[in-house]
Amino acid sequence: MSEENISVLLEEKRVFKPKEDFVRQTNVQKWMDKNNIKNLDELYKKTEDWKWFWEKISKEMIEFYSPYKKLIEWDVPWVKWFVGAKYNIVHDALDKHVKTWRKNKVAFIFEGEPGDVRKFTYNDVYIEVNKLANSLKKLGVKKGDRVGIYMPMLPELPIAMLACAKIGAIHSVVFSGFSSLAFRDRINDCEAKVVITCDGFWRRGKKVYLKEQADVALEKAPSVKNVIVYKRTGDGVPWTAGRDVWWHDLIFDAPKQCKTEELDANDPLFFLYTSGTTGKPKGIIHAHAGYALGTAYTLDWTFDIKDEDIWWCAADIGWITGHSYIVYAPLILGTTSVIYEGAPNFPGPDRWWEIIEKYNVTSLYTSPTSIRLFMKYGEEWVKKHDLSTLRILGSVGEPINPEAWMWYYKYIGNENCQIMDTWWQTETGHFMISPLPITPLKPGSATRPLPGISADVYNDKGEPVINAGGNLVLTTPWPGMLRGIYKNPDRYVETYWNKFEGIYLAGDVTRKDDDNYFWIQGRADDVLNVSGHRIGNSEVESALVSHPIVAEAAVIGKPHSLKGESITSYVVLKGGANPTEELRKELREHVGNEMGKIARPDEIWFVTDLPKTRSGKIMRRVIRSKALGKNVGDISTLSNPEAVEEIGNAK
Ligand code: PRX
Repeated sequence: MSEENISVLLEEKRVFKPKEDFVRQTNVQKWMDKNNIKNLDELYKKTEDWKWFWEKISKEMIEFYSPYKKLIEWDVPWVKWFVGAKYNIVHDALDKHVKTWRKNKVAFIFEGEPGDVRKFTYNDVYIEVNKLANSLKKLGVKKGDRVGIYMPMLPELPIAMLACAKIGAIHSVVFSGFSSLAFRDRINDCEAKVVITCDGFWRRGKKVYLKEQADVALEKAPSVKNVIVYKRTGDGVPWTAGRDVWWHDLIFDAPKQCKTEELDANDPLFFLYTSGTTGKPKGIIHAHAGYALGTAYTLDWTFDIKDEDIWWCAADIGWITGHSYIVYAPLILGTTSVIYEGAPNFPGPDRWWEIIEKYNVTSLYTSPTSIRLFMKYGEEWVKKHDLSTLRILGSVGEPINPEAWMWYYKYIGNENCQIMDTWWQTETGHFMISPLPITPLKPGSATRPLPGISADVYNDKGEPVINAGGNLVLTTPWPGMLRGIYKNPDRYVETYWNKFEGIYLAGDVTRKDDDNYFWIQGRADDVLNVSGHRIGNSEVESALVSHPIVAEAAVIGKPHSLKGESITSYVVLKGGANPTEELRKELREHVGNEMGKIARPDEIWFVTDLPKTRSGKIMRRVIRSKALGKNVGDISTLSNPEAVEEIGNAK
């Protein structure tokens, strides 16, 4: 985040109070009335007793097959929630609904990029999940087995996830925008037995041939025995007989009923890989019951979900936002969700506004990058459509600058909608710091930790600080918290629990103001936030260095008006190589092939050396200061201080 932004945030004094008639009808206000809680302060005070709160709220939100013996077992940093209970998230997401009037309620409205529409009721999803679950069993998938899913925004993606969960298999979804090689690394890390993908999908008027990409990954994925291919575009695909099977053939005569596996409440539900400070992504583990409670409660209270709502979380299901708030939480709450396949600005910059008008969307949840993109196109595009059904808006993934906040508030929300700026992470599973619909808002602040959540800002000595930047920490366990990093318990402890004893380190620089409002300012570690997506500096560096002509690379983030941060890289070529424009392009594409398009560097600069410490560590901090024209500080301890000058003059 730029200094200008920080100073803007520091100056931000505007407060937007929710309207009284709106407040009165909110789920949270009604809950407070029922529990004799008079105001927000009292709510926060009362819920400091987090065990009391989670116990109470779990009774209202989720249904166990058999009750738990103990609410929590907290052996820092290892947690178990609802110890001894039998549970499966699919019971709450589907099975319980088909026994009620919701059976025929629409669960998903799908709109493809070309404009095709499919609607799935709860019963439709239930049947499709059962058929696929039975088919997975037929392929030999058992409880605890991993299934790699590489699919775009199609309703079959949640169906595939739920089918795995139903039989106790663990899904590992990989964002369809990631490259073959990124997909390969992830399915190999979790040793997936089966992969589910599709022939292709639509993006910006063109077809993306996903099966071809999956096949490249599968060339070196020995654990994968079968590949299930959903037909979306209908084009021919490369085929490996004996291994590949069409989704429609597989489920053709599969039984429509399938018993949901009664699991231990703490059995793993999924792995989702996310970037850290090393070159290798971490497989974050989430478990059934705690995650179900945390996602459902936070969606219900924060976005005030009502039965008549049309909820649209416009993230991709390949990221945690989609897992939690397109798939699991909305289904648990019995909500109707929109799933849109394509690009936000295709065929025109008003595609989203058209969708909102067409389906009477009541709640939109998106990222500041998207908001800034629409701001760039201008409000004329918004004004062409009737967005009056919207009643609540949300933002996630990166700090929202007050300018984008105001535009969102004014032009999308018509000054009528609360904006929920939700702070959370892949690791937290669900919103942690966020306004409630009854919270007075300050543009750019995610406001306060939600009831049941304890967050603070510590300086490096572990002392709480107010009105100064510090480390964002979580001081008590929460239901949706990660259960570790797959196959890497040491990295789990090292990354999150080593700096302050018994305290979770989020990795974000944050300031807390006099009203206890949190202002998230950006990552504290070597992780970039590009368009709300986490990308490790070292991952991009590894991708660059894997090109035969590159000797060394350093990657830094620069403030970017649209994407939040852009990826800038400094590259040292192997002896004799000529830095050319073609090479620049080639390296960019190379990173795209290694990681996926979102990781392609915006800038590549060629240098002959990179500033390093005496022990040989590349000094990204120094490079960044120099690149941004800031003071680089004391560089006398570097082994090659002259390399700093070269950064400033790089070509
Ligand atoms: O830096 C914070 C930023 O996104 C990181 C988490 O990234 P990821 O695990 O990919 O999950 C993104 C979606 C939850 C955080 O450490 N971040 C997320 N939400 C916000 C945010 N930064 C500022 N404000 C937010 N509301």
